[in-house]
Formats: sequence, C-alpha cells, structure tokens
Amino acid sequence: MRNPQLNRHGELQHLLTLDGLPREVIISILDHAAPFTEVTEREVKKLPLLRGKSIFNLFFENSTRTRTTFEIAAKRLTADVVNLNVSTSSASKGESLLDTIDNLCAMHADMFVVRHAASGAPVLIAQHLQATGRDHIHVVNAGDGRHAHPTQGLLDMYTIRHYKHDFSQLSIAIVGDVLHSRVARSQIAALTTLGVPDLRVIAPKTLLPSSIESMGVRTFNDMREGLRGVDVIMMLRLQNERMAGALLPSPQEYYKMWGLTAEKLALAKPDAIVMHPGPMNRGVEIDSAVADGSQAVLLPQVTFGIAVRMAVMCMLAGQ
Ligand code: CP
Repeated sequence: MRNPQLNRHGELQHLLTLDGLPREVIISILDHAAPFTEVTEREVKKLPLLRGKSIFNLFFENSTRTRTTFEIAAKRLTADVVNLNVSTSSASKGESLLDTIDNLCAMHADMFVVRHAASGAPVLIAQHLQATGRDHIHVVNAGDGRHAHPTQGLLDMYTIRHYKHDFSQLSIAIVGDVLHSRVARSQIAALTTLGVPDLRVIAPKTLLPSSIESMGVRTFNDMREGLRGVDVIMMLRLQNERMAGALLPSPQEYYKMWGLTAEKLALAKPDAIVMHPGPMNRGVEIDSAVADGSQAVLLPQVTFGIAVRMAVMCMLAGQ
C-alpha cells in the first residue's frame, strides 16, 4: 500500500509522521536542509523558492520554537505567511476545524502548518483535502497530541548527524516522559529507520507506553545504568498538561532519579552531546549546569530547525 504522505510519483505530499517514512526520504530532507543553514549566515537571507505561495500557520496549541521557526523559514523562502491567531479566530465561536480549513482554502492556501492538542488533527485535514479534490494543498504536522512531531524529529536527526556523522555507530538514550511525548515517538521512528544499533529509553515505569519495546528500543528504569557509554542524550520535558492524575511522587523526586546532572552526564562518553526539544524545565528534567554546559546543543537544535523546515516546505511546494 502506498504511504499516504507520498504522491503517486513517490514525492512528499504531506508531512504527518516519521513513522513509516522511507529512509531515503528522511535522508533527502536532511541533505536538502544542509545548504539552507548557509542562507542563515548571509546578509540577505532570502531565496525565491516559495515565491507566490501562501502558507497558513494554524497553531491551536501554544508554541515558541516551532511556530516562529516555521514563520522564519517560510519568509526566507519568500512565501506569504499568515499566522492564524486561534484565540481570536472563529474557532473560539464554535467553528469546526474542517470549516476553518474550507474557508482558508477559499483564500487560496497552498500549505497548512498545523499544531493541535488532538492526536490525528493534521491527518484529518489531509484526508479532507484529498476527499474534496484539493490534494494540491500540503499539510505539515507541527505536533499533534501525543502522536507525532515530525519536524522536531527531523531537526533532531540533523543535529545528531551534524555532531556525530554516522547513525550506524551510535548509542542513543531518550530520557523522560515518553508516555506523553510526540517528540519521543518521532525520534524513535527516525532513529530506528536510520539504523541506530543501540537505542535506549530511560524513564520511570509510569511514564513508559506498554508497547514501547515493540518500537525497537531497550528500556531502563535506572538512569545511571542507561546512560553508561552513550553518544547522545535526548532529554524530554515532563508533560504535566497531558497527565491525568499523579504519575510521579513530586518534581523534586523526579529530578533526583531522572534529572540530568553533571554527575550523571559523566557516565556517558566524554564527547556525548545533550539535546532537549524545549521548552525545558530547569531543575526538573535537567540541571542548569548541564543545559548551559559545553556538551549541550539545545540552541543549535533551534537554529537547525529553520533549515530543516525550509527543506520540508521546499520539498512539498517548492519550484
Ligand atoms: N519543541 C517544540 O515543539 O517547542 P515549542 O512547543 O516551543 O514549539
């Protein structure tokens, strides 16, 4: 069966998830992103690759990094960008998601970048566009519920490749609230597709999905054991907004057991890098000395995110 994100020529039509996305497509996005990092260094940071295209940023859930970097990326490609302010839009008067989409289509949208608290919202939009004969309009998932955050996963892959080069040689640990994390799901999908031989997940049992080992990872409840000898540490935020009931004793106890401190970081390889998708909770999942330390690459992740999002939008709708 054809991957619903690819058109009949095998080209990217939508970016909804990294789960099932072919290795060559992931590599192609990373390769396309590389020259865009140089555009960011230029005095004139513009390319005409999306000139005349209208991109609608639809963020039904809060965001700092993703919304802003999508906007910067689209503007650098000379697209016309519309940021829908959901709190002042007619969604707040009860308009359905698909009615909002139909109205924006009537304004000749070329691409929707969608963040939504409901898992599956971007997929629903893509299916609706296809069912109504508007499959020339592209959908990019900017994070839906706990399902997927594909551009975060891709910018994380870009960051790892930048610092560590060869995925087939790496030990990587993902640490924290995997249960509620769309970022972790996208990271695991990409890292397994790219052939990482030693992929570990470190978390309290209450924050691990029951099916986690079927995703091709090894699980650890003891952080010290799990971090031993790894090349990359990918921290996750505690997603309190998605927790129904108390899954943890307290933030202080969580920090003691699963917070990344300099003492725990010393168990990884000496040249290990530390990543975090943001927003981070200092003193809960990561100590400031680590977050601001020489092994942390949190801010390069954000910068690479612009180039990766430029690459995705170009591959979808570029000339
Ligand atoms: N990493 C991430 O998605 O951050 P924002 O919520 O700020 O977009």
